[in-house]
Amino acid sequence: MNEPTRDGKQTYRWQLPVEGCASNNWPRYQARLVELAERRQLQWTELGRVAGQPIVLLQPASAPDRPNLLIASGFHGEEPAGPWGVLRFLETATDALFARANISFLPLVNISGFAAGRRLNDAGQNPNRGFCPASGASEDHTGPSHEGLILQAHAELLTQLGRDGVLSCHEDVLVEHGYVYSFERSAVPGPFTRTLRDANARFFALLPDGEVDGCPIRDGIVFNHADSSFEAWMMQLGVRRAACTETPGKQDVDVRIAANAVMMSAFVEQSFVSP
Ligand code: NI
Repeated sequence: MNEPTRDGKQTYRWQLPVEGCASNNWPRYQARLVELAERRQLQWTELGRVAGQPIVLLQPASAPDRPNLLIASGFHGEEPAGPWGVLRFLETATDALFARANISFLPLVNISGFAAGRRLNDAGQNPNRGFCPASGASEDHTGPSHEGLILQAHAELLTQLGRDGVLSCHEDVLVEHGYVYSFERSAVPGPFTRTLRDANARFFALLPDGEVDGCPIRDGIVFNHADSSFEAWMMQLGVRRAACTETPGKQDVDVRIAANAVMMSAFVEQSFVSP
């Protein structure tokens, strides 16, 4: 996910069997997003534009008695199964599931990276860094990206929309295993974290215990690692819990998309099991 030695400029793309296009086809992605947002009756808001392309927020007509959940993806352009997974989820999730929570989406944050199939944006910035102060690597002190500045300008709104949980969907192109970063206001991982980890493990063997990108990982979980990512920032701003899921870029792309959609469902279902 977040490693200074990763090559942020290498390009990756996969042919998508279900969508019938390449994984970096932004016009096709946008057209499908418009169609599915309409079908789900989600309000389409442009939070801002980077190099002429919109960062889109999708919001439901919210009901006050339901949990507020925020699903974000596409921070890193070589991790396309998150954004395509949002489409799969919008297409396949039941109406009953949608009716149980106020689910908002940031479907694709780093459009220039996505279109290039490249981790970093066109300015060479990491859009999942610089949201907040962090201890650790020097890359954490570089400040927000162009995309990050737009999200920061909507901090209050995003915190409200993700009040009861934030899910950020990533991939790791270097591995064949799945894993999860998670944040809870507890000393050990609870059902929220374990449910997402287990959903990932339905599709992929979990990364062995040890280290990933300099973080200790155990049972497929990196827990409460305070970096300067979007999800760490959301926790700082007061959301109840957050997670960043990682599907393996070395596995079949359609399985990765399916896994992302299933993890989104698990994320929503978990908000009732353990409110
Ligand atoms: Ni990532």
